[in-house]
Amino acid sequence: MNLDTVTDFKELEETVKTCSRCALRQGCRGVVFGEGNPSARIVFCGEGPGGDEDRLGRPFVGKAGQLLDKMLAACGFERFKHVYILNTIKCRPPGNRTPTEQERAACRPNLDAQLRLIRPAIMVLLGACALQEIVNSAGRITRDRGRWVQKNGVHIMPTYHPAALLRNPALKRDAWEDLKQVVARYRSLVDQDHYSPYC
Ligand code: URA
Repeated sequence: MNLDTVTDFKELEETVKTCSRCALRQGCRGVVFGEGNPSARIVFCGEGPGGDEDRLGRPFVGKAGQLLDKMLAACGFERFKHVYILNTIKCRPPGNRTPTEQERAACRPNLDAQLRLIRPAIMVLLGACALQEIVNSAGRITRDRGRWVQKNGVHIMPTYHPAALLRNPALKRDAWEDLKQVVARYRSLVDQDHYSPYC
């Protein structure tokens, strides 16, 4: 199956699950494709699967994922209804190390195919890895977070990765400011009646 021409999201998932574009697949349990609503207008993009994600085959299901779910809930977003959640790379690097540029490049066609089919209006980039992959290879999250970037018509908001918020809770205040901007943009681009409990 050609990633550039596949039109069915389920078929894309089946194809990506057989990926062998880099060596990571040999050292992990399986491909973590992503999950949520493929018709969602907003995508959250993390770095790559960790141990819990590798074990369960689902993105953001460990401690950082639990925090992400709380962040989504505060925005009025449900994982399987309003959003799609994916990562820059689909296979867990050994020891959870940061993926190399080569690994990210190898996996990029998988990510591009997902985004081509989802066609999000808004993307939230969680952490430096997603920022560097999607927006600017020299991006720095502390400098670039909280400011919208537009690329190919997609409104992109870089913010802190939930794992960074767990390590340093003082960053949560800024992350919440970023998410409030995301909800406001979601209301203006996607659903003016979107309900969120806190903003
Ligand atoms: N961290 C990520 O970047 N992605 C996941 O899926 C889980 C943790």
